[in-house]
Formats: sequence, C-alpha cells, structure tokens
Amino acid sequence: MEEKILILNFGGQYDQLIARRVRECNVYSEVKPYDMSLEEIKAFNPIGIIFTGGPDSVYKENSYHPAEGIFELGIPILGICYGCQLIAYHLGGSVVPAEEDTAREYGRTETNINPNCPIFDGIDSKIVTWMSHGDYMQKIPQGFVIAATSQACPNVAISNERLNIYGVQFHPEVNHTEFGTKMIRNFLYKVCGATGSWTMAGFMQDSIEAIREKVGEGKVLLALSGGVDSSVLAALLAKAIGRQLTCVFVDHGLMRLNEGDEVEEAFRNWDINLIRINAEKRFLEKLAGVTDPETKRKIIGEEFIRVFEEVGKQIGSVDYLAQGTIYPDVIESGKGNADVIKSHHNVGGLPDYVDFKEIIEPLRLLFKDEVRGLGRELGLSSVLVDRQPFPGPGLAIRIIGEITKEKLDLLRKADYIFREEIEKAGIRNDMNQYFAVLTNLRSVGVMGDGRTYDYAIALRSVVTSDFMTAEFARIPYEVLDIVSRRIVNEVPNVNRILYDITSKPPATVEYE
Ligand code: XMP
Repeated sequence: MEEKILILNFGGQYDQLIARRVRECNVYSEVKPYDMSLEEIKAFNPIGIIFTGGPDSVYKENSYHPAEGIFELGIPILGICYGCQLIAYHLGGSVVPAEEDTAREYGRTETNINPNCPIFDGIDSKIVTWMSHGDYMQKIPQGFVIAATSQACPNVAISNERLNIYGVQFHPEVNHTEFGTKMIRNFLYKVCGATGSWTMAGFMQDSIEAIREKVGEGKVLLALSGGVDSSVLAALLAKAIGRQLTCVFVDHGLMRLNEGDEVEEAFRNWDINLIRINAEKRFLEKLAGVTDPETKRKIIGEEFIRVFEEVGKQIGSVDYLAQGTIYPDVIESGKGNADVIKSHHNVGGLPDYVDFKEIIEPLRLLFKDEVRGLGRELGLSSVLVDRQPFPGPGLAIRIIGEITKEKLDLLRKADYIFREEIEKAGIRNDMNQYFAVLTNLRSVGVMGDGRTYDYAIALRSVVTSDFMTAEFARIPYEVLDIVSRRIVNEVPNVNRILYDITSKPPATVEYE
C-alpha cells in the first residue's frame, strides 16, 4: 500500500472514527500512538498526517506531544481539536484555557468557514460543527490564516497553504459536523494528493497474493465460528489456498438455538475441509462453578486454542492458525495504559503458549464494515455478511453467574423467541444487536394460583454504528409485550422479563 494516511492518536475518543472516515474516502489509514518516532514516521511514509483530539491541555506538563521535527518533514498535516492546538502551540501561536462562556464550546456550534481554504472547498459558508474544547487558540502562528470562526471563538480553524498544515477546532469525523467527510476528503485529495487506491477489490487481490506467498505449501487451520469475521476469512483463505485450508468449527455448546447446524449447513458445500467438533462437554466442565466474567472469557479462549491444537496434531503438520482479528481489536489491544474493560477472547484471552508455527490474521487491518465489504467482494451471501455480532464466548457471557446446561437451554429458548418476534415485527434493521440475557436474579411471582420463585430474563437491544458507544433500541411496547408473554409461557423457570434501557457508556452491550 503506497498511499497511506498516518493518524497519530493523542488520546482522543474518535481515533477509530477518523481512520474509518479516511478509508471511506478510499485512502488507507492507520492509527498509531502519538509518540511514534520521527524515524518510524519516515519509514511509514504517509502522504499526510492527522493529529487526533485528546483530553489534555497542550501547555500542561506531561501532556502528549508529537515527535520533534514532525512539522519540518514537509508532509501535510491536519490537526483536529487538541491536534489543532498542538499546531498552534508548536509553531509559535498560543493556547490558553477558555474563559467561562467565551470560546469554550461543547456540542453543535454554528460556524462560519472560508470556502477558499482548500479543506473547505465546495462547502457552504455557514455550517453546523461539533465542538468539544475547553482551551482555545488565543494567537495563531505566524504564516497561518484564520479559516473559520464561530460566535464564541474567533479562531476555529487555521490554515497555512504554503506548509500544507491545517487545524480545525471542531470534529469533522463525527456525523453532527455538516460536510465533515467532505472536509476530510478535501484534505486527502486536494492537500495530500491522494488518488483513492484503497478498495476491497484491491485488498482482496493483495491479500490473496500475500497469503499464498506466506503460506507456500503449508497447511492452515481456521477457527470458524460462523460469525462475520471468521466466515469472510474462510472465504478469503479458500480463494487463496483452497484445500490447504481446514476450517474447524468448535461447537462449544454456548451457541444460540440451532446455530451449530446452521453454521455447518452454510459451509458444507464449499471446497474446503470442514471439521465440526462437538466440545460442549469439555467446555461446560471447565466452566463449572466459574462466576467471574473475566475468568470465563479466559477459560473459553484457552480451551478454544487447546481444541485447535489437538485437531492440528490429528491433521498433522499444521503450520498456521488463522484468526479473524480485526483492526478495532488491534487498536484497543495496543493502548497500553487504557483500562481493560473486557478481554475479547480472540485477542486478550490467548494463552501464552500456542502450538503452531505462527498465527496469521489477514483481516487485522480492516474495520468491520470493510470486512463486510470484502465478504461481498468474495461473493458471500447477505445471511453471513450482514449477521449481527455474536461474541466468541457465546452465551457464557450472557448468563450471569454459574453456567449450566439447563441455564443454557433456558436462555436459548428465550433468546430464540425474542429474535423470532423481532423478525416477525419487521424491525430487525432498526437495531444492530438484540439478544436475551439470563440474569442471576430470582424473584417471586404467581402463575396459576401458585407461587413461583424463578429467573428474570433481561432483553437487550442496541442501536450503534461502531459498538464503542450505543443507545438502547426503542422497541415498540406491543412487541415487548408479545415477547414477554411468550417467554414466560413457553420457557420454564422464568417468571419475569426486564427490558434494558441503558446506553453504552455507562453499560456495555454484553453483560459480562
Ligand atoms: P461490549 O459488551 O464490549 O460489546 O460493549 C461490544 C461488541 O463486542 C461484542 N463482543 C465480543 N465479540 N469476542 C467477540 O468476538 C468477545 O469476546 C466479545 N465480547 C463482546 C459484543 O457482542 C458487541 O457486539
């Protein structure tokens, strides 16, 4: 990939969003830590650099700053929010805390832009932008001109066409900023001279060649879960190396109703080696009595690998284990000092010892929507490509507390009813993920004339574009009513249904 944009992350929350926006404009981008050295930057050889926002103040001690000399490289730079302030601070302007009610802006802000500035080319002169800053540029650096203003803030955007350095106080990457993508596109094409070489068709060809070169005559084992990522990876590998690939579908007994058979069915007619392993018993044994969420995840991640190793030995001389790791996992895992919220079992849960020559992760540079695009390019059906996400640890993280076969069967039934009614109501596309959770709450109820003391099922449904933040879906009461009645009537040992109305944050999508 010759044409790359480097996104230096200064601790902003929108780093991935910026990278996705750039890629949506058909230019490849990668997110790297802010302290990437000048040598590394030169070796990366980007056609442009974007500085993200960040929670800090540039003038504070220990705040994040880019490598010295970065402004002298002659590479175009776009600074966003904190990134814009960095430009001002380093090139001779000044950044100060905004006084109460002046120049401090949060949320939607009317902004006047100068359409003569290359990054605002073709954009209305009065637009709404999305701001979130407590500092502002009091003085802009010499050689720069003001490219946008707002009522509260005289210096909303700065530009220096000679140096090809631009800064915006607002966030062009969020949807609330009008023409935001157009601004990013302008930066890429009008400032950095991009040609738009990043497409899934191109990625597919490059990957197939790279996989063939790497693998040679070797054998590859793929953990196929039936989820979008592993299905697309299976198709990619099948195209690259055909029967050198063996897909192992480990049915850990933590799948949804009928899911195991559906996955097998979907791949049965492909020209690959497909092995289905029924490992329910061994997973449930390992999980018996375990209640801690992280321990559950670690156990499942580890057990997966152990199963693959065994299959690998049976097949003989397996060189590579392929995994469907995607870019958000890679970025998240690389953030050394961030809190581990959950260890996704395909990354954080990996044991230290893995009995394969190497793990290959051909999708590790792709965002989810790109994986879907690649899937379409490879000719996969919408049933597989547009599936809602299902976590690797499966229903284990949707049963709070100890996992038993009885609880799994109970949850499977409730979950199936919920999904069936969503389909029937024709509202499937109004939400991005929906499922049932078995809480460990038991409560008193009355059925017939008798007292019950049974489980509460929680229903979870979210609307989100990236699963980093999410809102609960506004499912009509009539649908919830039907679901509630059906679950209580049809699923034994359940007497209460709760609908989860928390967003992420503060809650996460899954319960564990
Ligand atoms: P959370 O619960 O972190 O979930 O808000 C965000 C999205 O990630 C999915 N998820 C997982 N996917 N392995 C996966 O492949 C995992 O261990 C895992 N945990 C959560 C979750 O279903 C949601 O879509």
